[in-house]
Amino acid sequence: MSRKIIIDTDPGQDDAVAILLALASPEEIDLLGITCVAGNVPLALTTKNARIVCELAGRTDVKVFAGCDRPMQRKLVTAEHVHGKTGLDGIDLPDPQMALQEGHGVDFIIEQARAHDGITLVPIGPLTNIGTALQRAPDIAAKIDEIVIMGGAYFEVGNITPAAEFNIYVDPEAADIVFKSGIKLTVMPLDVTHKVLTTKPRIAALRALSGPVGPAVASWTDFFERFDMAKYGSEGAPLHDPCTIAWLIKPELFTGRHINVEIETGSELTLGMTVADWWGITDRPKNAFFMGDCDAEGFYALLTERLARL
Ligand code: RIB
Ligand code: CA
Repeated sequence: MSRKIIIDTDPGQDDAVAILLALASPEEIDLLGITCVAGNVPLALTTKNARIVCELAGRTDVKVFAGCDRPMQRKLVTAEHVHGKTGLDGIDLPDPQMALQEGHGVDFIIEQARAHDGITLVPIGPLTNIGTALQRAPDIAAKIDEIVIMGGAYFEVGNITPAAEFNIYVDPEAADIVFKSGIKLTVMPLDVTHKVLTTKPRIAALRALSGPVGPAVASWTDFFERFDMAKYGSEGAPLHDPCTIAWLIKPELFTGRHINVEIETGSELTLGMTVADWWGITDRPKNAFFMGDCDAEGFYALLTERLARL
């Protein structure tokens, strides 16, 4: 039985891989639409990039919406240093021909939550659209089955500041709304995504796929990985966002704990930190299933098998 999902995204090469994995998995995923948010690059580019990815997969039928162009209360922080000026550096693909949907992404999220008996939201960028939807329409919290988030960190701590992961850091107020919403939360933090590295053999398998998708993904990761490899000295880059979709397809690839996670919104020093009670030190409510480990070989075997379908 496939799950009805909305992917909320700031493409971003790793976002692109997550979208492609979802499009390649109709047995498990009924993609209601894609809502774009400002994050890795400004909104005008994330909406363009989302459509480039859909067209690469031959899926001009996918509904793509523009959402919020800045965080709820703060100035936008972007990540061109990681993703390049376009947000999809690594390969030049044609500008999209498919149109953006009329209407705002936040309204789409609200409408779809009210229209269906239980949807899953998959935010893989800053949580601005999700936080805004929950603030504008608190009734939808009861209609959302699960929110599967790429964001936060515990042992890995931070990647945009010493204390915070990018998606949470860009809009900590929105993240605070989501983590206090009472909705079932599954969190893919850096602790997991840093275990699914784009090693040479894994990317070679993708590059060897027939059709345009595998080679395009390999070209994106060739660009995307340079930053993290230089920073961490690792043998590849973490493929963050597709971990959320892999969870929906094959949850047994992941292990985690139900713990309390709260968001720092007051201190400028630790703004956006996910304060994760991994060791159960407090009696705060266990509001999140926070991942700690992943079968990386299994993840890449799934990703390669599914992208071969496109
Ligand atoms: O910190 C990693 C996250 O920030 C990923 O979602 C990446 O695409 C960027 O948005
Ligand atoms: Ca992202």
